[in-house]
Amino acid sequence: MSPRIRSVQSPSSEPCPNNLIDIPTPSGEIKEIRHQEGHILVCQGCCCGNTEKGFPAVPLQAWKSEWKARGIRKRVHLTIAGCLGPCPLANVVLVIFRGACVWLQAIHSPRQVQQIYDYVESMMSAGRYLPVPMNLEKFHFTRYDFDTASCEPTLSR
Ligand code: FES
Repeated sequence: MSPRIRSVQSPSSEPCPNNLIDIPTPSGEIKEIRHQEGHILVCQGCCCGNTEKGFPAVPLQAWKSEWKARGIRKRVHLTIAGCLGPCPLANVVLVIFRGACVWLQAIHSPRQVQQIYDYVESMMSAGRYLPVPMNLEKFHFTRYDFDTASCEPTLSR
């Protein structure tokens, strides 16, 4: 059974506060979830934010308060996650927007958090993935062997 969408996701900047979808589960029940445009995963695992290991703290309050203040909760989910993998680059953040993955490193300050939310909101306004802005470019790194925005390889083999 395919999912039944109750409201159509806007391809534009229009907010879709009730973009709910019914998902059939393996047991045959129908569960309701919200379709979203993006997801921000803030690593707070074994290294990111671990001040006892010498890493800077994760600015958790900024992540949470900006997320609420900007009113994007129903369109972009925020998760404070366990280890995302590239520990030497702590503090790591993964932004997923409409399937494109943007990995960021050395994210320690509330100012950087604001810049990341500004970037996410610019993609929300555009209704599509946008390249990483200049103010975040030096924190951007490739994690996969393909570019999730273009589906092109990132490394020559
Ligand atoms: S603890 Fe953050 S990437 Fe491993």
